[in-house]
Amino acid sequence: MSISRTTAMRVAVLASGRGSNLQAIIDAIEAGQVQAQIVAVISNKKEAVALERARKHGITDMFVDPKPFAGRQDSREAYDRSLLEILQQYEVDLVLLAGYMRIVTAVLVNAYANRMMNIHPSLLPSFPGLDVHKKAIDWGCKLAGCTVHFVTEGVDEGPIIIQSAVPILDNDTSETLAARILVQEHKIYPRAVQLFAEGRLRVDGRRVLIDGTKPDGEAIISPAS
Ligand code: GRF
Repeated sequence: MSISRTTAMRVAVLASGRGSNLQAIIDAIEAGQVQAQIVAVISNKKEAVALERARKHGITDMFVDPKPFAGRQDSREAYDRSLLEILQQYEVDLVLLAGYMRIVTAVLVNAYANRMMNIHPSLLPSFPGLDVHKKAIDWGCKLAGCTVHFVTEGVDEGPIIIQSAVPILDNDTSETLAARILVQEHKIYPRAVQLFAEGRLRVDGRRVLIDGTKPDGEAIISPAS
């Protein structure tokens, strides 16, 4: 198969569900705010809305069925090896996990070290994993938020690139909080991708240093008054 190569940074998105973060990145690219090209959207779920969104925008969409790999001792690695083949075939520069509901193994993590990002709906390192909006409310936090981070083998553990904080209101439910956080996700994920495209991210141990950002002096206090 011959795959055309343009100068724009080549991005692949792995998604399992509704794909609103994928959509935000597609929209930002189409609006000229992010200099990148999504060359493939890959899902482990055949019915993922994310795949439909890709098709609507003329982006190659692929369902990679995990079933043929099930039952093997190395099923997760074997699945990731087949993803890696696709990513290499498409000459992908940056991999984005966007609601991708599988744990990625060293096979992908090592091949895309500091070149694979994830978005998570909490202020990491608080509340990794699932059901995080409820956990933040139940804990009594006054601030929640979302995090874009590089992907390492530990789930939701990689170096943090951008975070956005959102107040938790007394009458919040998981749904209302999730909706407000999602608005922020759609802002910070495209921004992180653009920072990467501009070559402004430097990983120094656990810290991601961003070239050319202005110092932000303002505190976020919740409740504000
Ligand atoms: C988002 O909340 C993201 O932070 C989490 O999974 C959700 C995916 O939503 N990892 P969507 O599929 O991008 O709409």
